Amino acid sequence: MGCGRRAWMLKLLLLVVVALAAVEYLFGLRTYLGTPAFNITQSTIETDVRKSQPWFNLPLFIQNTLSQNSTQSMTGQNGTEYVRTPHLLNKIMESLRNLVSEDTTQVNEQSMPVCDEVPPDLGPVTANKTEMELDWVEKKYPEVDSGGFYSPPNCTARHKVAIIVPFRDRHQHLAIFLNHMHPFLMKQQIEYGIFIVEQNDTSAFNRAKLMNIGFVESQKKKPGGWQCFIFHDIDLLPLDSRNLYSCPEQPRHMSASIDKLKFTLPYDGIFGGVSAMTLEQFTKVNGFSNRYWGWGGEDDDMFHRMKKMHYHITRYNMSIAVYTMLDHEESAPNPKRFKLLLETSKTLEKDGLSTLKYDLVHVEQHHLYTHVLANIDERS
Ligand code: BGC
Repeated sequence: MGCGRRAWMLKLLLLVVVALAAVEYLFGLRTYLGTPAFNITQSTIETDVRKSQPWFNLPLFIQNTLSQNSTQSMTGQNGTEYVRTPHLLNKIMESLRNLVSEDTTQVNEQSMPVCDEVPPDLGPVTANKTEMELDWVEKKYPEVDSGGFYSPPNCTARHKVAIIVPFRDRHQHLAIFLNHMHPFLMKQQIEYGIFIVEQNDTSAFNRAKLMNIGFVESQKKKPGGWQCFIFHDIDLLPLDSRNLYSCPEQPRHMSASIDKLKFTLPYDGIFGGVSAMTLEQFTKVNGFSNRYWGWGGEDDDMFHRMKKMHYHITRYNMSIAVYTMLDHEESAPNPKRFKLLLETSKTLEKDGLSTLKYDLVHVEQHHLYTHVLANIDERS
């Protein structure tokens, strides 16, 4: 009898244990099947999290087991009581916050419409050419990311454009240029970066080589790469935002109509000032020549390269491709440029991106531009 009673007690104990295990399991299962383990007000976010984070689906008792700290009972805003394991919960909430913000970005990127082909409200703009402080300009454009990078917040840009600016001794122009270009480009709803490529040595200025360097260095700064390159003199400011900073199927000469040149094109093949080329066009012509030291000729050389590769220059209407030029001293023209030009078609493959050599001093991200500083010494 005593033996039978003990067996009965044992069975009862076993039943209680099984019942307890079942309750715990069901509670866990309930969690697993969809009831939040802790209170999150936005159920849509929670659903996304569950899909992408397997650990989030763990039954509660496993989550509790993982916790190193004691649990505490709390009451949420709507009166729901829920159990917290502070240590684990904090960790989870942190991951969740990261996850949600990542998810939100993804959703935004996916659901953002592609920007209009022709953005709204484009037209003539004025230029402020008075001297200004760079610090002052920097404060004006908080929406520009460090390095001078920008992408439109409400739509996916159609064009990814690197603006390459050869530079030396023109500090007075830099602030004026950035102050004009950022709002101009933002209005066009393109994704862009501004690269100021400075020659550090004292050799004659080599605009073309600096543009080749800008091309190479800007690509390193962009995961996936830029598709379009606009080679831009720092002393030219566009005066009509319908002059789109994008790259069409053929290279585009942008600065066709400059005030200092009386708004007339000096000759048909001119490709200097501001010009746009796609990644493919620029690599097919082997970039610019590296051999033009001093003023002039490098853009004419590019014209010959383009012709050789069966490209032709396109332009906007003269009333749209309008620029104003900032004042500066004239540089000495390169007397060798005519001889060099005669050799272009023979030297194209042996002179350009394929033979580019330079010593990089630094690549620094400033708020409104990326500064590429290089030694390109003629004698080296
Ligand atoms: C030079 C070019 C320059 C053009 C317009 C030509 O003589 O070779 O480099 O862009 O003049 O000023």
